[in-house]
Amino acid sequence: MEKKKLNHLAIILDGNGRWAQARNLPRFKGHYEGGKRVKEIAIAASLKGIKRMSVYAFSTENWKRPTSEIDYIFKLPRLFLDMYLSDLMKYQIKIECIGDISQVSSNAKKAINDCIEKTKNNTGMVLCFALNYGSYQEIINATRNIASLVKEDKLNIEDITKETFEEYLMDSTPVDLLIRTSGEQRISNFLLWQIAYSEIYFTNVMWPDFNEEELDKAIANYYQRDRRFGGIKNEK
Ligand code: FPP
Repeated sequence: MEKKKLNHLAIILDGNGRWAQARNLPRFKGHYEGGKRVKEIAIAASLKGIKRMSVYAFSTENWKRPTSEIDYIFKLPRLFLDMYLSDLMKYQIKIECIGDISQVSSNAKKAINDCIEKTKNNTGMVLCFALNYGSYQEIINATRNIASLVKEDKLNIEDITKETFEEYLMDSTPVDLLIRTSGEQRISNFLLWQIAYSEIYFTNVMWPDFNEEELDKAIANYYQRDRRFGGIKNEK
């Protein structure tokens, strides 16, 4: 991979609730607008040649929210599919999902699987939704799987490498640029392994206000960074 290529963009979609509250709107309105931005930014990113865009739509910690809000967030996959399928096909965007969706309602599961199925032959950018996703869980599951192989004498401990480990992650594509909106400056258990060498961009803009101009700012900032991957030479 060329050091400066922006292959994988990951976004922590934050600020939907505050965006709505600032307008005296119910929080779900913020999630609705946020869903629209996911589609718009995905199209913009795909046209800029980005190959994969991962969005943190629901974390393993988000179950602490009120049930009504959780129920609304899980209505979004169906809404997303109904409203945006024609655009996903037009721009050849392929939907993928990481996280444990076994715990979500059967309607949401069906919508997610329909979306994955209907876009599976698309050849453009992958839009990956992290749904009921958390890195601790992902890394623990990988470790358990590897430990079982060792226990069954199918793998030697000394053969556990970065590559072996990555085979057991839900997705191992290294993140080039991670964006978090809304002014919060933390990672919140998102793609911890995959962001090992990623550039991180924080913006005060709330996710429902994040538009193509904001994406361009983040990308321009990324291209100014000197990615050394632990080395010392400035290779551009
Ligand atoms: C964070 O804002 C946002 C979420 C927890 C949900 C994000 C989900 C979407 C935008 C929709 C994704 C689309 C599909 C198809 C599932 P927040 O509620 O934490 O905002 P706050 O920090 O201002 O309260």
